[in-house]
Amino acid sequence: MRSFSKFASASALALSLTFGTALTAQAETDIVFGSLSADTQSHITVFVDMDGELTGAAAQANDDTEGRLEDALRDAEFKGKFGKKLRLYGLAPFASITVVGTGDEALSARKLHDLGGYVAQASDNKKNLSVMVDGLNTDVDAAAAQIAMGYALSSYTFTKYKQDAKDIDRTVAFHSDDSGDAQELYENDLEYVKDGIYFTRDMGTEPGKTIYPETFTQAVRDLFEDVPGVEIKVLGVPEMRRLNMGALMGVGQGSIHDPRLVVVTYNGGASGEDPVALVGKGITFDTGGISLKPNNGQWLMKADISGAAAVAGTVYAAAQRGAKVNIVGVMAMAENMPAEDAIRPGDVLTTMSGKTIEVMSTDAEGRLVLSDAVTYVQEEYDPRLLIDIATLTGSAARALAADYAAVVTRDWDLSDEMMRIGTVTGEEVWPLPLNKNHYKSIKSDIADIKSTAGNPGVSIGAAVIGTFVDEDRPWVHLDIAGVDWVNSPTPTTPKGHAGWGVRFMDGVLRDLDTE
Ligand code: BES
Ligand code: ZN
Ligand code: MN
Repeated sequence: MRSFSKFASASALALSLTFGTALTAQAETDIVFGSLSADTQSHITVFVDMDGELTGAAAQANDDTEGRLEDALRDAEFKGKFGKKLRLYGLAPFASITVVGTGDEALSARKLHDLGGYVAQASDNKKNLSVMVDGLNTDVDAAAAQIAMGYALSSYTFTKYKQDAKDIDRTVAFHSDDSGDAQELYENDLEYVKDGIYFTRDMGTEPGKTIYPETFTQAVRDLFEDVPGVEIKVLGVPEMRRLNMGALMGVGQGSIHDPRLVVVTYNGGASGEDPVALVGKGITFDTGGISLKPNNGQWLMKADISGAAAVAGTVYAAAQRGAKVNIVGVMAMAENMPAEDAIRPGDVLTTMSGKTIEVMSTDAEGRLVLSDAVTYVQEEYDPRLLIDIATLTGSAARALAADYAAVVTRDWDLSDEMMRIGTVTGEEVWPLPLNKNHYKSIKSDIADIKSTAGNPGVSIGAAVIGTFVDEDRPWVHLDIAGVDWVNSPTPTTPKGHAGWGVRFMDGVLRDLDTE
């Protein structure tokens, strides 16, 4: 038997940790902007569309190589298909020329991000590089900035635990005829979104050994340290006890790391206007608890923090870019461990709302911590829109794989709107249902509701959370269990943690901003 109180034991350990995020610890590419006529590096990238004709900067590069670029593209049968890439060496005066195809359709911001990602994939990420952004078929302002963002997202690395990681210092210059605008857009806006995504990826990649509720809280404090206009409030176990957050405390009870509710507010909108609430599931490691998970793939449950991490990343980006909207981010942090004093299947927990939940499986812990978190944010902040984001069910991953996050709303128009934002931002969502039957399924014999009830898993999970969301409150539930981790890289996401949700929720906030 342990002789210490679990809920008091972790702090000394935490304080002795030195903890770094991507913002400080990882080698980063220096991204700069310059005019088309500025000096270029010896490694360059040019874009070619499906006409195959070399125009602008590509034509200039061809001239510089005395026509050998064109010859090489012909010999390689390079057609300019979107995302096709070719790296050519030996074309003096350049050390290398990377050619990326732009296809034959107009380029949206999302497609520009992808192009930037292809540039990163095609270059070896080690050398200084000049990317010539010229003659693109696009209506998007400052396209070079969007391409730069895609480049940065694609070249994310997590090298903290590699003994021989090299500190790579490189400069990637994006050349365009609107480089002033591109620089401004990148440095005052897009770069912050990128940093928010990097933070989210770092948190999802960090092992459960280093990231637990207390250290996550510290990481959030560090992230926001120099961000003006943001307030952070942290509820520990004594506050939770006072508020009767039996579900959040229950999930955290089996761990030596006590739970936290982290609340970050940013008020960039009209004073007195109700905020948008972003509520994230932050299970720093999900063993399943007494309903222990099988061994296979268990390590990946270090990423069960993804929802909370994305909330922090999104609020960070919004605050830094000065979004004109009021936001409250709530992160429900706990570690789900089996232990002699962990909650058991069959236990009944009393939530902050007063409603009781019969715990059918301690592995359905996300809905428990979110029940108290959504109750809290509604009582304290009365949000005009409540978005919860969680790696909630394997069911979402089975239904939609890594292509879409599951979105559940009570109102089709809202789902429609979310699908549209998904398409624009490149983080796509697909609606799944929530109806009376799902609420009926979670009736409990001995408590107000029970926590699980078979299929369809996404809807049952949503019904549990929905039990705690006011009937008339606009509410969006995002189940990101299939999208938070990427096994095969996409143009903007290397293999590993995707940081899913920052771009999507940033898109939602931008939408509200212009209203
Ligand atoms: N964190 C898991 C969901 C998950 C599974 C995320 C796979 C990412 C990949 C969640 O806490 C969980 O265990 N859900 C259970 C719910 C079940 C007990 C009703 C599941 O999906 O199996
Ligand atoms: Zn979980
Ligand atoms: Mn679980």
